[in-house]
Amino acid sequence: MLDMVKTLGDAKIIPVIVIEDEAQAVPLAKALVKGGLPVLEVTFRTQAAAGAIAAIRREVPEAVVGAGTLLTVEQLKAAKAAGAAFGVAPGFDPAVVAEAKTQDLPFCPGIATASELSQALTAGCKMVKFFPAEAAGGVKMIKNLLGAFRFTGVKFMPTGGVKPTNVAEYLAVPEIICCGGTWIVPKDALAVGDYAAIERLAAEAVASAAAS
Ligand code: 3PG
Repeated sequence: MLDMVKTLGDAKIIPVIVIEDEAQAVPLAKALVKGGLPVLEVTFRTQAAAGAIAAIRREVPEAVVGAGTLLTVEQLKAAKAAGAAFGVAPGFDPAVVAEAKTQDLPFCPGIATASELSQALTAGCKMVKFFPAEAAGGVKMIKNLLGAFRFTGVKFMPTGGVKPTNVAEYLAVPEIICCGGTWIVPKDALAVGDYAAIERLAAEAVASAAAS
């Protein structure tokens, strides 16, 4: 089973992917790996998600592909069946966390409050997505949560409003091991198959992370 904290922490930036056309999965994953971002989150917001994960798993072995936006037990099962190496959700649902455990799928639930964080820790989660990061208080909120929760060893992946302009500020906090974001895979670039632009954005993201 994947060591999620280590793998996502080494990657530092996780592209959050919304893919409409399964055929784009492999060239997209190759461009992201080439740009320096090998750990990917394919969101279950489109019908193409499971097929995209399976295709990346099959044809781009250098990538580590996880599934995002897992809102239900059914989606989690579909993600695991497609070969996802990890799962992410925007919120904390004990039923989904329990199913991830049953399926041996490393899982990162979303939290935005101290109460949700507390429940995620009780459920055995070691890492949480802080979502929607900027709207929910950004770096300041995470630092405040750490005031009470640092001793638990919990790690954060903020997502939602993280951009090249603020990513270094997040990554400067040791407990923030990585950030997620859609900016690396813009809808318009993907629509026209501009993988060179996506590779460039990935490389720029790597440089911003290194600057933190
Ligand atoms: C997510 O689900 O992780 C967010 O929608 C990504 O947010 P962003 O589009 O602001 O990066």
